[in-house]
Amino acid sequence: MPHFLDIHTTDPADLRQMIDHARAMKTARDGLPKGTPDAEQPLANHMVALIFEKPSTRTRVSFDLGVRQMGGQTMVLSGSELQLGHGETIADTARVLSRYVDLIMIRTFEESILHEMAEHADVPVINGLTNRSHPCQIMADVMTYEEHRGPIRGRKVVWTGDGNNVCASFLHAAGQFGFDLTFTGPETLDPDPEYVALARDKGVQVYFIRDPVRAVEGADLVVADTWVSMHDSQSTRERRHNLLRPYQVNEALMAHAKPDALFMHCLPAHREEEVTSAVMDGPQSVIFDEAENRLHAQKAILRHCLGV
Ligand code: CP
Ligand code: NVA
Repeated sequence: MPHFLDIHTTDPADLRQMIDHARAMKTARDGLPKGTPDAEQPLANHMVALIFEKPSTRTRVSFDLGVRQMGGQTMVLSGSELQLGHGETIADTARVLSRYVDLIMIRTFEESILHEMAEHADVPVINGLTNRSHPCQIMADVMTYEEHRGPIRGRKVVWTGDGNNVCASFLHAAGQFGFDLTFTGPETLDPDPEYVALARDKGVQVYFIRDPVRAVEGADLVVADTWVSMHDSQSTRERRHNLLRPYQVNEALMAHAKPDALFMHCLPAHREEEVTSAVMDGPQSVIFDEAENRLHAQKAILRHCLGV
């Protein structure tokens, strides 16, 4: 079953094909009103379930719009509306949903829920974020980098702050797309060593540099994310803020990256915390292109999974 569960478990040739396809689809509908159907309607007669056990703006709206532009229909379901977590097993839910829909996109907490869904579904499953990874976001980010600066292969990407789920997908992408990743953040929030080893096994460099100024030197891309993710307990908020404050991306820090370095953030951002407004709204920031490209990248992912 062609699921899209993670970047490191997807064939690199398929990943490349999806990025190129996304860019072509974006170009093909340049300037059209958002609700205009695509010239091709590959998802005609297809029903897609979008399940959210956590809040979402971008993932929810971009998947819904993307399916509609390609001629399909969606049902957007929140975890609390389903029997998920009310006693029915994930496996039974997967089997039941497979009788109604052609594809399931799920945003959830534990990665095991995603994997159990994929194992028991008879239709493709897409990872719309778990506590451990966020592959759709990084597909959009790779697309965005390449739109602005050409091939990402061999580039220096610097991740600042928490070694969280989005950072994990960047590590996965480093191995698959061939770029080096420098992590700058406190040791207690380092990314999963298993993912670091995986990237290194693929021949790319992963560096840990605690001093953010040294870390961003020569960077082609600087990335930040929230200091407190949706799965993090609010009781850790103060400790996290204290640990992460030195890693704020501001103009002074960006000045140490390459002059043409880009800044990315998956959003939602907390202005003046992990990043200043001056950087978010500044000339190096491509945050809204990233958000738009979620739409195009996910359309390519949907087509890949459905084989249409
Ligand atoms: N970046 C991202 O996944 O945003 P949402 O949480 O709004 O979907
Ligand atoms: N790391 C963030 C990403 C949100 C899109 C979270 O998991 O809350």
